[in-house]
Amino acid sequence: MTAAKVILDCDPGQDDAVALLLALASPEDIDILGITTVAGNVPLGLTQRNARMICDIAKHVDTAVYAGCDRPLFREPTTAEHVHGETGVNGIDVFEPETPLRETHAVDYIVETLRAAEKDSITLVPTGPLTNIAAAFQRDPGVVEHVRRIVLMGGAMREGGNYTPSAEFNIYVDPEAADIVFNCGRPIIAFGLDVTHQVLTTRERLAAITALNNPVSEAVVGMLDFFDRFDAEKYSSEGAPLHDACTVMYLLRESLFESRHCNVAVETQSELTLGHTTVDFWHVSQRPRNVQWVHKVDADGFYQLLVERLSRYGDSQ
Ligand code: BDR
Ligand code: CA
Repeated sequence: MTAAKVILDCDPGQDDAVALLLALASPEDIDILGITTVAGNVPLGLTQRNARMICDIAKHVDTAVYAGCDRPLFREPTTAEHVHGETGVNGIDVFEPETPLRETHAVDYIVETLRAAEKDSITLVPTGPLTNIAAAFQRDPGVVEHVRRIVLMGGAMREGGNYTPSAEFNIYVDPEAADIVFNCGRPIIAFGLDVTHQVLTTRERLAAITALNNPVSEAVVGMLDFFDRFDAEKYSSEGAPLHDACTVMYLLRESLFESRHCNVAVETQSELTLGHTTVDFWHVSQRPRNVQWVHKVDADGFYQLLVERLSRYGDSQ
């Protein structure tokens, strides 16, 4: 099987960072065309810097990194320093990365890359608010058919919300962008909180990563040790959900996950439930099935493969 051609669109974020490191370690599965960044967990100036720091840590300084939208399509920015810390990747020391920031705006890059690609060929992997992707689709609707599929982290059904009682953070921040993307007509695989809350960073799993004892595993454990504390307290769970890494893991081993083809609609009007994802799991509406909604994962298998891929950084350093 040839590697999927992928654009990773993210707002690092410790869990975005692990998703990037997993992708960078998996060239036989994932051909990273570029990393695009968006305002989300922290402002854009930090998310683009963080993505470049992660490329440095992985020793992939030639990765193309772009900065995109610094605010949602129509709303004021919302950030999550209370979860991720003031840098977005608290747990590692910040530094000025060698990986350069490309001059092109991320939305232009996405449009140009899709335009130049064959139809049905590019996989988009958004792990932040969907602003860049929606802006690209609005800029040039013709590029949408060049997308093979969109594998995203966002939304919630049974778990309720993590930012408001009914909304997950990525969808809440830019619900209009999410609405555009969920209705774009291309295959969408969505990892909401129902599944991401199953991949917890337990002590045992972190110990297995620590034991790898390479510079990347050290950075991962540093970040996850920090990231843990907020969710562990909030949910009384052992560890935190490694949300965004689910998307990349799916590209590596789909068989770890179970999903259902459903209609998913985004609330863009209500003040009370803004950003809520209405998942028609039992197909009780006549609305068309637009999303493969992932609801279950083999969490041990997930961490086994994560450890295996992170161990590769020991070989190349
Ligand atoms: C999502 O929001 C962010 O805090 C995480 O990086 C993840 O993408 C989880 O709700
Ligand atoms: Ca994220």
